[in-house]
Amino acid sequence: MAKLAINGGDPVVKKGLGKSWPIHDEKEEKALLEVIQSGAWNRREKVDEIAEKFAAYHDAEYGIPLANGTVALQCALKAAGVTAGDEVIAPALTFVATGTSAVCVNAVPVIVDVDPLTYNIAPDAIEAAITPRTRAIIPVHNGGYPADMDAIMDIADKHNLKVIEDCAHSHGSQWRGKGTGSIGDLGTFSFQIGKTLTCGEGGMVITNDEELAIKSREIANLNMRMTNLQAALLLAQFERFPEQVETREKNVAYLVKGMADIEGIDPIPRDERVTRWCFYYWDFRFIPEEFAGISRGKFMEALGAEGVPCGVGAHGQPIYNEGPFGNADWFDQLGLPREFLGDRAIDYSTVHCPQAEYVYHNEVCSFGHAMFLGDTDDMQLILDAFQKIRSNVEELQ
Ligand SMILES: Cc1ncc(COP(=O)(O)O)c(C=O)c1O
Repeated sequence: MAKLAINGGDPVVKKGLGKSWPIHDEKEEKALLEVIQSGAWNRREKVDEIAEKFAAYHDAEYGIPLANGTVALQCALKAAGVTAGDEVIAPALTFVATGTSAVCVNAVPVIVDVDPLTYNIAPDAIEAAITPRTRAIIPVHNGGYPADMDAIMDIADKHNLKVIEDCAHSHGSQWRGKGTGSIGDLGTFSFQIGKTLTCGEGGMVITNDEELAIKSREIANLNMRMTNLQAALLLAQFERFPEQVETREKNVAYLVKGMADIEGIDPIPRDERVTRWCFYYWDFRFIPEEFAGISRGKFMEALGAEGVPCGVGAHGQPIYNEGPFGNADWFDQLGLPREFLGDRAIDYSTVHCPQAEYVYHNEVCSFGHAMFLGDTDDMQLILDAFQKIRSNVEELQ
């Protein structure tokens, strides 16, 4: 008789894991009601309060709250002086907005490969992609795991480039004791509904550079502003944040310890410079050879059937190679002057990032952050599901 739930056996998890997201109660209702009744719906005290608190939590002096994480990237690029025809280096494994934000300021995204161990932008790939037109690097702290900011800042210093940290996944994460977003010239955050700190939609730029803060504020003031309603919700959510971070950390530690005894599923090895690892999704590596050669897709399907939902957090970037994106035809379609591309038109269908492509298609598995908000019993169930699949892998062949 089949044991695995995918084949009709009993699933390991009988009820959901973790908590449903977002978490809210009367605290959020009260915060919103207060702003509604005040009539100050656009911007004022709440926006300023969250700017200060959130920036300080990430070791930055200035915070500029915005409508979402996509415009935060555009605002940061503009503030950093990135302009038409400049090149902006971004990783292949990320959400599409990282690269397209460069396009939105008429710059050219140059997509480079990731480090196969951390899934973050590879410093040697950055170096190799630098040209006289390069103006900025956008490292993404993928899933929330900090990119190698030592190497990235060294490269930026050497070539006089701006660094904009895309922290859409890394609220609370630290590199050498400093909050992500405060190490580069500017950091950008998203408060979209799935994020670990959310007000439905929202974003922020943080920086320690007064001049960049002033510029960002001026740019944001055009039409990128966060409302007082969003800020009120965010402040209420922010009060919950430190405890949620602690719960996730405790649960991940339990899971990682248990995974050490199971061949074929490897957590990302933690660099000691990652002094706090908060995560939007938590990635681990699936090694098919250790699971009798079954595909990652089959493994994730079997895991899902056991009641452990698993997906791929980072996105592929089909927009770049489906259609004429980046070449002269595409610029014509958008009505943008071809001069922006200069002699550096990039045919994205010929750009390959072998590590990112392998990881994305075959290797990486991601768990959403809300799965880690329950107690350690949930983590034990995940370990039981891993073990069960491994012990009965022949059912999947
Ligand atoms: C890495 C990354 N950058 C930028 C964004 C854009 O944020 P938003 O959805 O708030 O516009 C996202 C959104 O998920 C993201 O994952």
